[in-house]
Amino acid sequence: MSSKDPIEELIALAKKARNQAYAPYSRFRVGAALRAASGRVYSGCNVENASYGLSICAERVALFKAACEGERTFTALAVVSETMASPCGACRQVLAEFGLDTKVLVADLEDGREVLTVSDLLPAAFTPASLPRPGPEHQEEDR
Ligand code: THU
Repeated sequence: MSSKDPIEELIALAKKARNQAYAPYSRFRVGAALRAASGRVYSGCNVENASYGLSICAERVALFKAACEGERTFTALAVVSETMASPCGACRQVLAEFGLDTKVLVADLEDGREVLTVSDLLPAAFTPASLPRPGPEHQEEDR
């Protein structure tokens, strides 16, 4: 399915990423697609581990891939799962690092859709601005 609606396009990419999920333990497959301000889209799927706690969510895989390519500003994240699951607490915190206004589109495999923002998901967030001196800026000087 190809759609011109940018929301549906991002959801379609998240759905495609979900097909790569490595989830032999939970059998719960999740896909994510994160659009950066540059226009580029980074996908992610959950990757589980026999040492269960080392598993990582689809959302963080997408965000870390993007950050590692130099992206710092994001417009929207789509997350797709069978049950229309919303990002977990850890992913909400990691998303908040890069902006509270990023749209979060939560979808299922059919027509289920919910549109929120990171700030809806994590009110009163602890962010870089909460630090006495903004942390990341110091490291950004080295880029
Ligand atoms: N999971 C995600 O990838 N994203 C979410 O939003 C919720 C949970 C994954 C982690 C684990 O691999 C599986 O789903 C079951 O918790």
